[in-house]
Amino acid sequence: MEGVIDAHTRDLLTRRPGFDWTVTEFVRVVDARLPPRVFTKHCPELLLPEVATPSGVTVHLQLLGSDLDALAANARQALRLGATSLDLNFGCPAKLVNRHDGGASLLRNPTRLFRAVDAVHRAVGDAIPVTAKIRLGFSDRRLALTCAHAAEDGGATQLVVHARTRDEGYRPPAHWEWIGRIRARLSIPVVANGDIWTLEDYWKARTLSGCRDVMLGRGALADPGLAPRIRHWQRTGQRLPATPWAERVEILDQYAALQRSTLPAKVVVSLLKQWMNHMRARDPVAAETFQRIRRLTDLDEFLAGLHSTTCSPTNA
Ligand SMILES: Cc1cc2nc3c(=O)[nH]c(=O)nc-3n(C[C@H](O)[C@H](O)[C@H](O)COP(=O)(O)O)c2cc1C
Repeated sequence: MEGVIDAHTRDLLTRRPGFDWTVTEFVRVVDARLPPRVFTKHCPELLLPEVATPSGVTVHLQLLGSDLDALAANARQALRLGATSLDLNFGCPAKLVNRHDGGASLLRNPTRLFRAVDAVHRAVGDAIPVTAKIRLGFSDRRLALTCAHAAEDGGATQLVVHARTRDEGYRPPAHWEWIGRIRARLSIPVVANGDIWTLEDYWKARTLSGCRDVMLGRGALADPGLAPRIRHWQRTGQRLPATPWAERVEILDQYAALQRSTLPAKVVVSLLKQWMNHMRARDPVAAETFQRIRRLTDLDEFLAGLHSTTCSPTNA
């Protein structure tokens, strides 16, 4: 997720079992071949022996763009740098990105979507898999199925479907049943995405879409224990309770330490606030803590404020 999930976040979220693979923030392809440093910035895992998190969870490199020659050139560049799979983003709703003909704007023209996938597929041949991520459409869902077929026909080996149109942004509800219609018509695996915040959401998304796999976005940030809880439920049938606040604080602490190794303290505070912002919408202790410390800019004070909640009588 752009601006939110970097290599450190991927590392932390995959330390416990739950994720089968992760995706980088998108690499924006405009009209030129990008230098290697852009790829390694988005995907430092390219520099490791395996393109994976330290726990061994594969990292897919995501490209976003519509210029066929540039997409092909950057796909080849990514392959040369060691990428082991490429994902194409046709879901980004940002106005700036869409105005420049990227992300969800291609959902208005399935032929162009096909050509983009095809260009990347041809560029890398069978060396590595090419996957795609779409929404249900731009303004409406009329072309949902056609876009899904276009991705498959272009050579995508897997399709993630975010169950909303671009115009629906991130507003609930996610239309999981629409993913089911797509899954029923495609031969490649389809992964359900959108609004999975709890075990119940996971089950509902799976049931309505018929998909074996789901992708977590904001839900994994709001509750870093969600994927492990889903995995535990799959394996044992037991439902673990939501991740306790003390555990979330531990993750935020580790995140601060990882980010502090390369970034100024003030920037780390902003990043912590950004992550807490995802947590607070779903967790009253996170909301209360955020409210109390949100004006702090000193990293040590901020971290002390995080910890003070875990010691309060209500959370003991
Ligand atoms: C801040 C933010 C950044 C995102 N960046 C990306 C991105 O770079 N690539 C991508 O495929 N999806 C991106 N997404 C979309 C998510 O991956 C996901 O499809 C969407 O949030 C719906 O799933 P959710 O309801 O589980 O969050 C982003 C979403 C948000 C909120």
